[in-house]
Amino acid sequence: MKHLLSTRDLSAASALRLLDVAEEMSAVGEREIKKLPALRGRTVVNLFFEDSTRTRISFEAAAKRLSADVINFAVKGSSVSKGESLKDTAQTLEAMSADAVVIRHPASGAPARLAASDWIDAAVINAGDGTHEHPTQALLDAFTLRRHWARIGGTPSAGTTLAGMKVLIVGDVLHSRVARSNVWLLTTLGAEVLLAGPPTLLPVGIGSWPCTVFYDLDEAIAQRPDAVMMLRLQAERMNAAFFPSTREYSRRWGFDDGRLALLDIMGLDDTVIMHPGPMNRGLEISAAADSPRSTILAQVRNGVSVRMAALYLLLSGDPHDDEPRDDETHSLPHDLPIPEGRTTR
Ligand code: NCD
Repeated sequence: MKHLLSTRDLSAASALRLLDVAEEMSAVGEREIKKLPALRGRTVVNLFFEDSTRTRISFEAAAKRLSADVINFAVKGSSVSKGESLKDTAQTLEAMSADAVVIRHPASGAPARLAASDWIDAAVINAGDGTHEHPTQALLDAFTLRRHWARIGGTPSAGTTLAGMKVLIVGDVLHSRVARSNVWLLTTLGAEVLLAGPPTLLPVGIGSWPCTVFYDLDEAIAQRPDAVMMLRLQAERMNAAFFPSTREYSRRWGFDDGRLALLDIMGLDDTVIMHPGPMNRGLEISAAADSPRSTILAQVRNGVSVRMAALYLLLSGDPHDDEPRDDETHSLPHDLPIPEGRTTR
């Protein structure tokens, strides 16, 4: 695997390998010294053409824990705001010998364009492109779900899938790259995915997605999901009126106190509530965000381990690459090999 652009083209073996390595990275995070020498001398550039708090910080923490040098390239205040093209920016980064570029861009497909170009030799990680995909978010969600599932059913051992799990994704699916990446990844990992949202916020062609669609939240909850993932209403991507009022939206589609209580009444003691953040409190989610069912902070925490695994696997040239093998023993976390220096073209 040279780049991480989407979950749609990620095989189950690659996804599981990444989650397994992330488990080991998480063990590093619990040690007194949280740093590994694995990416010493390598340069990771965070290239963010769209605002972000947690994703950028998470990638920065992940790269630093692996001892990489990190350059944060925010578009505001850079020459990009003077009209510099993606190509010129990429070539500048290449001249600075970037080994990995973590890119967030408002245009769907921008990371794939960069990866397919000869502008740059670095590994490209998609940190969210338009309404298309956000693969590391889905991977951290899958990591969180896998841990939760293991807590109920047993220990999370290497290679554990999400088979048997039912995940309900709710809200603004139309504008959500998080929803898309999760639909592909969770189904690849064996989970059953349900979607619920107003028809105006569900994309055309959703009928061909591998999920069941509900137009009523309570009807979807009646299917007894093991996890409910609330999506942020992406007002910044809306150029029309997609729902009558925020009050109406929160009544029909918000995970409010009444629906939180409903889970108790239904005896769904183990159902968790997820949200990728940032949250519109009082709109798509309210007290549920702070309830013991919420995995929201665990998701943020797990994001660092998952991004460490992604950077490590891409930059170290994983010898297991895509090949499911029986001897899945690796020397993490005590003795991470330092990858060979990259050869320049
Ligand atoms: C998501 C994103 O940017 O796509 N947030 C994130 O990465 N933490 C979801 C969102 O913005 O709603």
